[in-house]
Amino acid sequence: FPLQSLNTFGIAASAHAYLRITNTEQLIGVYTGANWRALPRLVLGGGSNVLLTGDFPGLVLHLALAGKEVVGGDETHHFVRAAAGENWHAFVQWTLAQGLGGLENLSLIPGTVGASPIQNIGAYGLEIKDVFHSVTVFDPCDGSTRTMDAAACRFGYRDSIFKRDDGRELVILDVTFALPRCWQPNLRYAELAQAVAEQGWTAPTAQQVADTVIAIRRRKLPDPAVIGNAGSFFKNPVVSSEQCAALLERFPALVHHAQPDGSEKLAAGWLIDQCGWKGRNLGAAGVYPKQALVLVNNGGATGAEVVALAAAIQADVLAKYGVALEAEPVFV
Ligand code: FAD
Ligand code: EPU
Repeated sequence: FPLQSLNTFGIAASAHAYLRITNTEQLIGVYTGANWRALPRLVLGGGSNVLLTGDFPGLVLHLALAGKEVVGGDETHHFVRAAAGENWHAFVQWTLAQGLGGLENLSLIPGTVGASPIQNIGAYGLEIKDVFHSVTVFDPCDGSTRTMDAAACRFGYRDSIFKRDDGRELVILDVTFALPRCWQPNLRYAELAQAVAEQGWTAPTAQQVADTVIAIRRRKLPDPAVIGNAGSFFKNPVVSSEQCAALLERFPALVHHAQPDGSEKLAAGWLIDQCGWKGRNLGAAGVYPKQALVLVNNGGATGAEVVALAAAIQADVLAKYGVALEAEPVFV
């Protein structure tokens, strides 16, 4: 089964078998049915954070569970639930149309609601964990369905239990968000605050914040419908304050942000840019000319070409800065 149109990198790989999952019973049937049980499985949402390194010798489960609703609330929050297959950006827009602010900073992130907790998606000063209530998961080990709260998900920067060994097998069925009754714009991210101020908005609405985020993203990031990519290809590396200070002595322009625990997050895009990689190509894989953290498929790239480009970049950044870059997308 061809997967090229199911991954935003546009890599031409195929799967041994494919199923589009539209209800929970169908999903449970796959995990308990004798004909599927022996095959390796890959759960796929929008395919916007995977790198297909070759053909997949198993069953691709394309999660297309649909539905979204306001499910209640407490004194401080409205609770909103959406099924795993809902498109993330359309869901954010829908919450705004309901008059519910809180998700606007995460506008225009590709992919599905079900994948949003996997790497605790984040942008422009907000992460999923900040607006998260709970998630319903299906556990193939015992066939059970259960609810997990934020603590159980162990969210971190681009990380959660779902990326680690004890949670990798879980399938997310739906996610519930807690959106504040007393909404305030979140303008912690300097670039966003500046762009809002430039519009002359002193008290922007949630929709205005969303529109500003959308405009910034359209300016900086490639549209996967036009040029294949998976967003940031590397995580921003977190180093100790000592290592950061030592680097600053040699590279005073180093971009760094202090973290609450005293460590420092470096801008991987800056490191890659300084190594001269911006706009360079290796075969059909390349570094996006407007954002060095984004690797692109210039047409017909294989997963192996992207991996080779990523390895060359990692080697240069390590040699020049002594910093190891970790890939963000999931390699399949
Ligand atoms: P997929 O790529 O389909 O899957 C990703 C991983 O999650 C895989 O391991 C898959 O098996 C697993 N998975 C998917 N759905 C489920 C499920 N229901 N249950 C269990 N496992 C599942 N990310 C950010 O955090 N911030 C950004 O600003 C951002 N910007 C981006 C910009 C562009 C242009 C692109 C292409 C990507 C960007 N991303 C960003 C990455 C991506 O959008 C997110 O990681 C998104 O959550 C992936 O969703 P998906 O449905 O496409 O996941
Ligand atoms: N920079 C350069 N050269 C470049 C790219 C960036 O010097 O080619 C510098 C910028 O000037 C800036 C700094 O690096 O000072 C950071 O750049 P940017 O604001 O574009 O953000 P980022 O750190 O590259 C992160 C996330 C994005 C998210 C944005 C906005 C990661 C890995 N990436 O990018 O998430 O949208 O911040 O919050 O944390 C994703 O995960 O796929 C993703 C796109």
